[in-house]
Amino acid sequence: MHAQLDQIEASALAALQNVSDEASLESWRVAYLGRSSPLMGIFDQLGSLPKEERPQIGRRANEVKRLLEATLAARAEELSQAALMRTLQAERLDITLPGRTLARGRLHPATLTLRQISHIFAEMGFQVYRSREVETDEYNFQMLNFPPNHPAREMQDSYYVKTSADRGDNPLLLRTHTSPGQIHAMREYAAMDPDDPPPIRIILPGMCYRYEQVSARYEIQFNQVEGLVVGYHITFGDLKGTLADFARRLWGPQTRTRFRAAHFPFTEPSAEVDCECFLCGGEGCPVCKYTGWLEIMGCGMVHPTVLTNGGYDPQRYTGYAFGMGAERITMLRHRIEDIRYFWGNDLRFLEQF
Ligand code: DAH
Repeated sequence: MHAQLDQIEASALAALQNVSDEASLESWRVAYLGRSSPLMGIFDQLGSLPKEERPQIGRRANEVKRLLEATLAARAEELSQAALMRTLQAERLDITLPGRTLARGRLHPATLTLRQISHIFAEMGFQVYRSREVETDEYNFQMLNFPPNHPAREMQDSYYVKTSADRGDNPLLLRTHTSPGQIHAMREYAAMDPDDPPPIRIILPGMCYRYEQVSARYEIQFNQVEGLVVGYHITFGDLKGTLADFARRLWGPQTRTRFRAAHFPFTEPSAEVDCECFLCGGEGCPVCKYTGWLEIMGCGMVHPTVLTNGGYDPQRYTGYAFGMGAERITMLRHRIEDIRYFWGNDLRFLEQF
């Protein structure tokens, strides 16, 4: 029986060499450790052995059983490790590949200019006042001293909003300029203290709309930046000094400005502001059309009627206002020759900023 156990041990260990997967390992277990395996047969026969042989054979049989069980466990572990390695290899993920780059957004060129303009005026103590884009005829024109049928309306035809009730002389429209914000702002400030309204120093940026024949120079939508200063003893000198300083901060410290008389219904006197051409320094070049000057805004002293409409007594208060086009200034700075690029959604244009 000793020899039989040696032989069981040897053949079991030899057979294990050929076990290469979990299924054959299970067959091996059944063959060598199963209920009807030769080893179990020996345990069954122990009882019929002579008393003196029993302990020895029993010890040896247990030894073989423990050895086979330990070998089985080790082999099972080996096989599952190998299986794991195989799947790791097969499902290999190359984490060294660079990721796909995300397209980064950027600010629109008109927004960049608006921010720069706001920044300059912020340094001079102006606050930003936001006003609505849908206006009434009253605010967009009448309170700014354009009565119905005034010829100055000719320059600013708009898009009208259909309303269920007929609004007569006061239809809704998309604002044609940022100037109606002057009235909203003055009324809001005046309401704080109607007997002694506080001074105002604001800029009003935002989108404006006009019914235009679209061309390289005219668009149906564009941004303006309006400015409004109201207080005691505000003079045309304050207007000139502030806007000349603005021009120097925008185009460079050497920039000269000139004021040409003009007409706007809501200012009196009115002027247009030209800056010396930043490109040729006044020599004359294609950007300034060989004049040496670039027109950048309209301005003037706030008309007494407009002050009154805003709730400010023109006997006690004076003020100045100005208005400029953000796309127009951007075009000059970057020598963009066609205003239609701004809202044409062409990435080849937008990605240059
Ligand atoms: N609202 C004028 C326009 O769109 C621009 C303008 C001119 C604004 C003179 C002003 C101003 O505040 O004083 O053509």
